[in-house]
Amino acid sequence: MQKNREIITTADGSKTIFFPDINENYHSHHGALQEARHVFFKNGLDHFSGRNELTVFEVGFGTGLNTLLAIEYAEHHRKKITYHSIEAFPVSLEEAGALDYGSLTGNPSLKTWATDLHLLSWNEEHRLTDHFRLKKLLSKLEDYSLETAFYDCIFFDAFGPRVQSEMWAPEILKKMYEGLKKEGLLVTYCAKGQVKRDLKSAGFRVEAAPGPPGKREMTLAWK
Ligand SMILES: C[S@@+](CC[C@H](N)C(=O)[O-])C[C@H]1O[C@@H](n2cnc3c(N)ncnc32)[C@H](O)[C@@H]1O
Repeated sequence: MQKNREIITTADGSKTIFFPDINENYHSHHGALQEARHVFFKNGLDHFSGRNELTVFEVGFGTGLNTLLAIEYAEHHRKKITYHSIEAFPVSLEEAGALDYGSLTGNPSLKTWATDLHLLSWNEEHRLTDHFRLKKLLSKLEDYSLETAFYDCIFFDAFGPRVQSEMWAPEILKKMYEGLKKEGLLVTYCAKGQVKRDLKSAGFRVEAAPGPPGKREMTLAWK
């Protein structure tokens, strides 16, 4: 990944990592926290409100923000979540500390996970709370085979197609489709026409939803 990286504060006060050379962020500069909550929880996990147990696959563990929010979600809703998150280029512990995500969670008992998540060993399942199991997968998505029809929801949080088109390739989207259970859902902040067409070609039923602040639309793709 890019060597030149900066920690910036986004419009809602939460921080993210910015690559000035390619003008790309880990999260929306309009608000990292509000984007994550809107895209992956309000338009993602909230669709499964009737379920007590969920399996989630995340593309891009990155800063661990979505994972931290998923722990909070599991505890708050008393829902058992098995969460698998893939990452090829882990952030450093120093960077994770500087992001200060511990200050974002309303659940004080979860604060230390903001940095501790980054210390957990890769490729093993860890039971973090009564409700949350995490496996961080150290691999390129291109090289990883998802278990077939295993996941209820995929958080597709790759860098945008402008800077990393290979993550949005038709064969990757097909792989996501195969990994989802029937009626499973892939959610992404991306609303590009080509991505939506490729999702359809992979077999998904594609829906647009209003985007988080600063973005008109986002995408839901159902199996
Ligand atoms: C938009 S950021 C993810 C943000 C992350 N979900 C978070 O909450 O911080 C995209 C992530 O994908 C990772 N990544 C880039 N190429 C990858 C690849 N080929 N396979 C797996 N992960 C990759 C990046 O290192 C980065 O952490």
